[in-house]
Amino acid sequence: MNDLAIKVSAATKRFGKRTVLDQINLDVKLGETLVILGGSGSGKSTLLRMMIGSIPIDGGDIEVMGKTLSKLTTAELDEYRTSIGVLFQSGALYNSMSIADNIALPLREHTDLEEATIEILVKIKLELVGLREHATKLPSEISGGMKKRAGLARAMALDPKILFYDEPSAGLDPVTSAEIDELIIKLNKVLGVTSVVVTHEMDSAFRIADRMVLLDRGKFIVSGTADEMKNSQDPLVRQFVYGLTEGPLTERKRTGSYESDLLMENI
Ligand SMILES: Nc1ncnc2c1ncn2[C@@H]1O[C@H](COP(=O)(O)OP(=O)(O)O)[C@@H](O)[C@H]1O
Ligand SMILES: [Mg+2]
Repeated sequence: MNDLAIKVSAATKRFGKRTVLDQINLDVKLGETLVILGGSGSGKSTLLRMMIGSIPIDGGDIEVMGKTLSKLTTAELDEYRTSIGVLFQSGALYNSMSIADNIALPLREHTDLEEATIEILVKIKLELVGLREHATKLPSEISGGMKKRAGLARAMALDPKILFYDEPSAGLDPVTSAEIDELIIKLNKVLGVTSVVVTHEMDSAFRIADRMVLLDRGKFIVSGTADEMKNSQDPLVRQFVYGLTEGPLTERKRTGSYESDLLMENI
């Protein structure tokens, strides 16, 4: 592994008869931000869920910090899950608890720290995401962007070495979305965390990625730096990266295979 945080080798996932991820290979280097790109239904969230150990793999291997996830016992898998941070699309805050209590929750559940220490740690996390003045508010009393920040502070509560994000800017306006991107960059630079970000938004990908991986219908298409992606001659990559109206993606829809693409019957 050496400088690798995550190694995905021929990872395959099936739901029933459908193969939704087909032998995906990718590496995530320690300290980098890797963005997983792809259209809706391409398998991004499924890949992320396998990486965080929330769904089992059907073929191949995922190694994180030298551990092969499929070989872990239930207890080891629980331990693994508390060692990483995950920010889901919704932020998934508890509505009946203050922002501070939401962030304190993982510390209360998974550590023996005294309450006074937990309060200090929560303040540090709130400061990190710019929410210190909003500690006592309920999730319903803050904006969508602030909820994402709070979710991120909670994902950071136990000081994970790796952070996973699923569509962090979904449902946010462009300015707030750019602010979340800035925060992702800050956490990466200031704390040195390794980040894996799933998104379909190119603007965001180009802002935050050290490297990107493009998936299409469950298959690995290409990986590279922002420049490599921009300079790619692959028509599919070009259409995705530049949002072109003409290309293999639209051709597929026009030739009538769109529906079966959505159903992934031809994989
Ligand atoms: N639990 C599940 N059961 C059956 N099919 C699923 C399940 N989760 C995802 N899928 C299917 O797998 C494919 C990939 O989904 P997903 O990983 O959510 O794509 P993305 O995040 O790229 O939009 C889709 O066709 C989706 O319908
Ligand atoms: Mg998704």
